[in-house]
Amino acid sequence: MGVTDTTMDKLVSLSKRRGFVFPSSEIYGGINACWDYGPLGVKLKNKIKRFWWHAMTQLRDDVEGLDAAILMHPRVWEASGHVAAFSDPLVDCKKCKQRHRADEIEGPRCPNCGGELTDPRQFNLMFKTFMGPVEDEASVIYLRPETAQGIYVNFDNVRQSSRQKVPFGIAQIGKAFRNEITPGNFIFRTLEFEQMEMQFFVRPGTDETWFEYWREQRMQWYGQLGLKPERLRFHPHGQDELAHYAKAAFDIQYEFPFGWKELEGIHNRTNFDLTRHQEFSAKKLEYFDEETKERYLPYIIETSAGCDRTLLTCLVDGYDEETIEGETRFVMRLSPKIAPVTAGIFPLVKRDGMPETAHGIVDMLRKRFDVFYDESGAIGRRYRRQDEAGTPFCLTVDSQTREDETVTVRERDPMTQTRVKIADLTRLLEEATAF
Ligand code: GAP
Repeated sequence: MGVTDTTMDKLVSLSKRRGFVFPSSEIYGGINACWDYGPLGVKLKNKIKRFWWHAMTQLRDDVEGLDAAILMHPRVWEASGHVAAFSDPLVDCKKCKQRHRADEIEGPRCPNCGGELTDPRQFNLMFKTFMGPVEDEASVIYLRPETAQGIYVNFDNVRQSSRQKVPFGIAQIGKAFRNEITPGNFIFRTLEFEQMEMQFFVRPGTDETWFEYWREQRMQWYGQLGLKPERLRFHPHGQDELAHYAKAAFDIQYEFPFGWKELEGIHNRTNFDLTRHQEFSAKKLEYFDEETKERYLPYIIETSAGCDRTLLTCLVDGYDEETIEGETRFVMRLSPKIAPVTAGIFPLVKRDGMPETAHGIVDMLRKRFDVFYDESGAIGRRYRRQDEAGTPFCLTVDSQTREDETVTVRERDPMTQTRVKIADLTRLLEEATAF
């Protein structure tokens, strides 16, 4: 079945039932646009982050990692332009008091009740708090709205300590916070989210070539993640869409049930950020190129992905329903590279030494893989539970196991069953999960 038939309601309900994502603070009635990751969700999220980190830092010599603090000097956000420009135009309904983004509504009246609207005013999206015990203007501090700034202010620290030469990049995964006016679509747009950002510093004049390079690299990464290529596309930003720092930008978009939407932004940020930080901090951030004897502020090509949004995309992309012998099978077709559980391990029955053998296999595999032991209910039901969780393999110990040291390997997608030697299981799972 196609993505347009997959309702978000079904996904939200499966996510809760199976422990991918729960509403935050649910026992208190929940809190708008905040979500918690359950046992399967946190495994999936960690694997997505690991897959990104591996591609960005481990497979390359020219990208270093960083983990900067969420709280930064308040001047950072003046230099970055976020204090002045990171805002949405808002209108309030005078009758029902609902708040809307002015650029998202059609016509002069409230879309909720038809009431009269106020004039638009700018609303800054940064969360503000106070550092220390005194709540005054001097102690205002922000929760970062993007992780990128932590990278820019550490440009020289990373360059010097790692002895990298331009062109090189800095990668970081971390939380960001935005007081979004119109959050929604489950975990698509939330107030607190995780970004996976990489900033690549290049010589001015080479920026357009690097921009093209990173655009392609990032699209390939989503393919390697197992997403359907026909549901991915590039969306170039028109002049009116460009963020305050960008000379050119492309979104990688995905076809969600609610339309084509941004999954990741790839931006040519020019030397905007380093120029501003040099000016506001009065610290020289220029790079001296030993080979050409030039001194310049590097241009930055940014790849900015949302971890939560990637996770949602994997769930949407993987979700499927099919009818098998008159029964509906719900299946989450996640790539084995990121599936929360790699193998379910079952004794066919709870006797004849089968549970003990199955536990032995669990102990053998769990050092390398996420595995799950299940002995309750009919074998078909156990398969179905793992299908919903996205588990690519189920390994069943049966009466033949004692005779020839094999188990039945049932694969999630084709539902084929083959016999595999216990001694070959590690290699089978290694090959399926390798990246
Ligand atoms: N540093 C550049 C930057 O932050 P962005 O296009 O505003 O650019 C990059 O955000 C990515 O972060 C988006 O493509 C999306 O995946 C994710 N993201 C942004 N706002 C989000 C939100 N409110 N909830 C979830 N993810 C968000």
